[in-house]
Amino acid sequence: MSILFLLLFLSSLLSSHPEVQAATLGSDIYALKAFKTSIKPNSIPPWSCLGSWNFSIDPCSLPRRTSFICGISCSPDSTRVTSLVLDPAGYSGTLTPLLSHLTQLIQLDLSDNSFYGPVPSSLSSLGNLKILSLRSNAFSGNIPPSLTNLAFLQSLDISNNVLTGPLPVTMNSLSSLTTMDLSFNKLTGSLPRLPPNLVELALKANSLSGLLSQSSFQGLTQLEVVELGANRFTGAVQGWFFQLPSLQQVDLANNSFTAVEIQKPRNANNSELVAVDLGFNRIEGYLPLNLASFPLLASLSLRYNRFRGPIPWDYYKKVNDNSLRRLFLDGNFLNGKPPAGFFSGGSGSSVAGSFGDNCLESCPASSQLCLSLQKPTSVCRQAYGGRIPLV
Ligand SMILES: *[C@@H]1O[C@H](CO)[C@@H](O)[C@H](O)[C@H]1NC(C)=O
Ligand SMILES: *[C@@H]1O[C@H](CO)[C@@H](O)[C@H](O)[C@H]1NC(C)=O
Ligand SMILES: *[C@@H]1O[C@H](CO)[C@@H](O)[C@H](O)[C@H]1NC(C)=O
Repeated sequence: MSILFLLLFLSSLLSSHPEVQAATLGSDIYALKAFKTSIKPNSIPPWSCLGSWNFSIDPCSLPRRTSFICGISCSPDSTRVTSLVLDPAGYSGTLTPLLSHLTQLIQLDLSDNSFYGPVPSSLSSLGNLKILSLRSNAFSGNIPPSLTNLAFLQSLDISNNVLTGPLPVTMNSLSSLTTMDLSFNKLTGSLPRLPPNLVELALKANSLSGLLSQSSFQGLTQLEVVELGANRFTGAVQGWFFQLPSLQQVDLANNSFTAVEIQKPRNANNSELVAVDLGFNRIEGYLPLNLASFPLLASLSLRYNRFRGPIPWDYYKKVNDNSLRRLFLDGNFLNGKPPAGFFSGGSGSSVAGSFGDNCLESCPASSQLCLSLQKPTSVCRQAYGGRIPLV
């Protein structure tokens, strides 16, 4: 502390003198000390960022050649800590609630370590925070609802942890948030109203359930990426969903959806949809024709559902027009003859994918699309109510 006071004294004495450093605010030092103290000493390698944190030296003072060589950055006047970005050194410990004293923090990134315990609700006091990444740790418990007070937060990544409980219902108050990744946790409950300026939404591999309701996505005109795969969503994917104006990539695979309604894009020239994965659901009905009206669609998976009826000529046309590059339709009850152009060796046969495990008539084994076998006739007969599906 004596060095700190000396520095404070000097800087007040010579405040106009450019060579003299101002000192880090006491409450920031206090928070950094508490932060380091809550991490197990034997998980701090000497060569790591935290290993260089030596509090006999002022954290923000420059140059940082022997202490605080990494892990923090400070404001230009060296008085406030503005970012805490740790290296992935295997740090193990809890995250102290006292971190909330770093009120000028803009970025907090503790990714790829072994932090555990709750995400402190006091992080909501970090009113300037723009980037929060706690990815790939072992944080548990609920997402503190108070985090939704972070009005400037642009990016939130707490993927690959063991978070439980529901998404905060007040999530839509995160009005600056553009990227949210909470994938690979154990979150439950349904989707609340989502932050209005989201560009990327990733909630893959949780236990979320319920319907995809239009109210959750109300006003999300910037939304480009939707990753909701490997959850327990049910019901129909309704027509409004694929009308979200900025949509590019959609992963709804591995849920329990039972229907999909797809309208033609409202303004096809502006549609940017390139990839749709609806595989591994329980979707009934005919293959959705209107998907072929999305001009940039390049990858489509409808595999392992309960689709029936023929493979539409429109899908073949989409391949032939050099837009569609991947087409997975295997594991359904599709019947009839697939459009011959898929197998003729022209540009229509350039697609990667599979038509296997269906009830198709004449899927030539010479085509890689037909490599896996069709379903046994008995299974197909049963699926089509006893009538022979092969016309
Ligand atoms: C911390 O810095 C002080 C002052 O430079 C030095 O005497 C001390 O050895 C350092 N401690 C460690 C653990 O490096
Ligand atoms: C579906 O989700 C379950 C649970 O997350 C996972 O074990 C499985 O591998 C997933 N399957 C596919 C095809 O994504
Ligand atoms: C879409 O683009 C085509 C060709 O560039 C043009 O003729 C048509 O008017 C456009 N449609 C809309 C709705 O902008």
